[in-house]
Amino acid sequence: MEKQRYKAIISGENGEASLPILKGTMGPPAVDIQQLNAEHGLLAFDPGFRSTASCQSAITYIDADEGVLLYRGYPIEELAEHSNFIETAYLLMFGELPNKAEYEDFWHSISRHSLLHEQVLLFYRGFRRDAHPMAIMIGVVGAMSAFYHEDMNIQDRDDRINAGIRLIAKMPTIAAGSYAYSIGRPLRYPRNDLGYSANFLQMLFGVPSEDFVVDPVLVRAMDMILLLHADHEQNASTSTVRLAASSGANPFACIAAGIASLWGPAHGGANEAVLRMLMEIEKPENIPNVIARAKDKDDPFRLMGFGHRVYRNFDPRSRVIQKMTREALDHLGIDDPLLEIAMKLEEIALKDEYFVERKLYPNVDFYSGILLRVMGLPMTMFTAIFALARTVGWVSHWLELSDEGHGIDRPRQLYIGEKLRHYPNKK
Ligand code: SDX
Repeated sequence: MEKQRYKAIISGENGEASLPILKGTMGPPAVDIQQLNAEHGLLAFDPGFRSTASCQSAITYIDADEGVLLYRGYPIEELAEHSNFIETAYLLMFGELPNKAEYEDFWHSISRHSLLHEQVLLFYRGFRRDAHPMAIMIGVVGAMSAFYHEDMNIQDRDDRINAGIRLIAKMPTIAAGSYAYSIGRPLRYPRNDLGYSANFLQMLFGVPSEDFVVDPVLVRAMDMILLLHADHEQNASTSTVRLAASSGANPFACIAAGIASLWGPAHGGANEAVLRMLMEIEKPENIPNVIARAKDKDDPFRLMGFGHRVYRNFDPRSRVIQKMTREALDHLGIDDPLLEIAMKLEEIALKDEYFVERKLYPNVDFYSGILLRVMGLPMTMFTAIFALARTVGWVSHWLELSDEGHGIDRPRQLYIGEKLRHYPNKK
């Protein structure tokens, strides 16, 4: 990281503060305010972190205006076309694409850690059958911290990598288990003869009474969904994981915190919300009414799958998913009226002044729910699949933060409460 020649000057009660400006490899430079409080007695106020670079990171880059997303420098579209989820996971975790031996070694470690401890399976029975899979995932992943705690030294890099591999390896088993439990099917064991996504599909849809037939197009679709969701810079759930991890907490507990943060409809829960919205729209004639509601400030309704905290252009992931959805539909020979409603909705919104002015475009969640539905997944599993994929990003950020060895994160506040006052004498 390079210090720029320029400085930011802040003029306050105690005179002027001169602050260095830092420049990353790409993206807007950042004013370095680390000494602002200690040396100048000031705090920076940025609720929601709209103008805050909370850390330095070399993992993922977003160009908000151009709608570009790079994993370790590689465009997301190129990875979606040429790579696969496991290779991309290696890239995100370690910074470079693996050679053949590194890939095989990495895949061997992942596939050999996919089983859950048999006692973990007992946790599922504690949940109601109608529990949301995200609730089950938060519980089960959090519980895993009890299984991998004493013998893990998070000061040791090999132990940290091993914890990351365990998380990536076990997440499909955990997610598929939450679905199987909710429909009363036996939880399936992983199969090491299948790839990551094929194995996930067999754990989701396979039954003990017959062989599971792998559909290569659906395997590719699942793999692509996972790859596209693997990381996205300092989003809410990743920032949650980083904050939790900064205290030195158990990584399984930190990832459970990330899953909780992802669940909300403003974040990963939007894919489920999009589908509910499209189903409610029912037919294209009802779209204008939905657009009007989304624009009405007195109505809390927002167009789900539209808008983004960072992008001021198309989310590049939405285009890739839209194309894959078409391919999957053609392959299965089905027509999904929801895709037609979604495309019409996008077309109308993109011409509407409200959305144009605010630069609101479809995000990753707009089409992903349709594709997952086409693949036979129930809506409640959509966000669980996002969590499975994002585990790679969370782990990569946790490794980066741990390698840096920085201390606990601790934001401050602009206090607006009562000034000092004294307890009244009630006699
Ligand atoms: C994800 O951060 C990440 O990287 C997240 C993610 C990842 O991979 O981790 O990309 C995944 O979370 C995608 C986002 C999924 N959420 C949704 O699709 C829910 C619908 N979208 C939103 O509610 C909203 O756009 C957010 C939460 C995504 C972003 O919220 P911001 O940053 O607060 O929105 P903004 O400040 O840019 O909004 C500007 C204006 C506001 O209007 P004004 O007050 O200026 O008049 O646009 C309006 C907003 O009210 N607006 C919308 C809208 N999104 C923003 N109006 C109608 N419908 C919408 N969807």
